[in-house]
Amino acid sequence: MSKKIASARISEKSSQLLQDLNNSLPFDKILYREDIKGSQAHAYMLSEQGIITKEDFAQIDAGLEEILEEVESGVFKLDGDDEDIHMAIEGRLTDKIGDAGKRLHTARSRNDQVALDFRLYVQNNTKVIASLLLENITTFVKTAEEHAKVMLPGMTHLQHAQPINFGYHMLAYASMFKRDYERFVTSYERNNYSPIGCAALAGTPHNISRQTTSDKLGFNAPTLNCLDTVSDRDFALEILFNISTMMMHISRLSEELILWSASEFKWVTLSDRHATGSSIMPQKKNPDIPELLRGKTGRVNGNLVALLTVMKGLPLAYNKDMQEDKEGVFDSVRTALLSLQVLNEMVADMTVNVEEMEKACMIGHLSATDLADYLVKEAGLPFRDAYHITGNVVNLAEEKGLDISELTLEELQSIDERIGEGVVALLDNRASMNARVSEGGTATVRTLEQVESLKSWLENEQ
Ligand code: ARG
Repeated sequence: MSKKIASARISEKSSQLLQDLNNSLPFDKILYREDIKGSQAHAYMLSEQGIITKEDFAQIDAGLEEILEEVESGVFKLDGDDEDIHMAIEGRLTDKIGDAGKRLHTARSRNDQVALDFRLYVQNNTKVIASLLLENITTFVKTAEEHAKVMLPGMTHLQHAQPINFGYHMLAYASMFKRDYERFVTSYERNNYSPIGCAALAGTPHNISRQTTSDKLGFNAPTLNCLDTVSDRDFALEILFNISTMMMHISRLSEELILWSASEFKWVTLSDRHATGSSIMPQKKNPDIPELLRGKTGRVNGNLVALLTVMKGLPLAYNKDMQEDKEGVFDSVRTALLSLQVLNEMVADMTVNVEEMEKACMIGHLSATDLADYLVKEAGLPFRDAYHITGNVVNLAEEKGLDISELTLEELQSIDERIGEGVVALLDNRASMNARVSEGGTATVRTLEQVESLKSWLENEQ
C-alpha cells in the first residue's frame, strides 16, 4: 500500500532489509483508534473550511468508521507491508472509497499526524494510570485505617529505630502515590494541546482551522509553534518519567514486602493467589509478584533513558530517529497498567501478622530516644548529655539481655538518679509511638488524621 501512496520520488521497490528497519506498522498498529479518530477530525475540519466537499467528508468518515470495525473484528489484520499505521489506514480507505480517500491527506503530513496519534495515546493512558493510582491509594488508606494501632519497628539504615504503626507506614506509600497521581494530572494538562494542522514543519497555505480539530479532539487549544510541535516528544518523556518514578515507589514497597515475607521477619503473608511455589522445594512459597514489580522498574527506567538519548542530538524538526519513541512508551504503559492492578490486589489480600510485628518492637531499644527526650524536658539536661546517659542505659539493658522498655525504675536509676518515676511508663513502646503527636507524626491519632485527610482528598478527586 505504502508504495502506491508515498513514493513519488522512489522508482525502485524497497529492499526487504530497508522495510525491516523502516516499517513501524508491527508496533504502531496499536495506534489505529487514535489514527482513525484523528483523521475523522481532520476531514471534518477540511469540510467545514470548504477545503473538501461535504460529500467527500461523509465518505471519508463512514469509510474510516468501517475500517475501525474491520480492525476490531479482525477482518483487517494490519500485518501487511505498509510502512506504518498511517499509510495502512489511508491505503485501506483509498481502496474503499477512491478519490475522496486521496483527499484526506490535504494540509497534513505524517509528521503532525504521528504527533497527534501518539499524543492522544499518551493522554488517554495518562488518565487510565491516574485512575488506577486513585484505586491503589484507596486501598492503602483502607489498610492504614485498619492497622493504625499495629506497631512495628520503624527503621533507618534497615536498623530498628523507633516504634511506628503499620497504618502510618502504609500512608507513607499513599503519599508517594498521591504525588505520582498529581504528576500524571499536571502532565496531562501541560500536554493537552493539539498538534494537528502543523503539517510537515512550517504550517500550510490551506485555510485550515486548528481550533476546530483541537475542539473536536478534546484538547485545550492548538499548540503554538509548528516547528516545535512536530519535533516535540516531551509528552512521551513525561509519561516515561512519571511511570519510572511511580515504579520506583512500587519497587521500594516490593522490596519491603519481600523482606517482610521472609522467615526472619514474617510480618506479612501474601495470599496464595499472589505467591508461587518452587519446582523442586515443596515447602516454598515465593514472593514472585513483588520481585517482578521490582524487576520491571529496571525496564521502565531503560525506556526513559533510551528516549532521552534518542532525542538529545536531533536537529529540528522531524527525524526518523523519532520513530524509536514508541515501543518504549508502549512497553512502559503496559507495564504500569499491569503493575498497578496487581499491586492493588496484592495489598488488599495480604495478611498483616500483628503479633510478629509487635514482637519485633521488643528488639532494638526503640524507645531510647524517649528517655533522652525525658531528661531534656523534665531534668533540664542539654540534649547531648541526655543522649550519653541514655547510651549507658542501653548498655545496661544489653548486658542484662533485656529491651530498654523492660528495665525497672531501680535499674534505670542506677545509671542516673535524675531518672524519675514516670519513665518506666514512657519507655513502653506503645506509649513511645503515641507520644509522637507532632504534625505528620506516627501517634495513632495523628495517623488517623492523615487517613481522614487522604479520604477527603480522594473524594474530591473521584
Ligand atoms: N512512522 C513514523 C513515525 O512513527 C511516522 C512519521 C513519518 N514521517 C516521515 N516524514 N517519514 O515516526
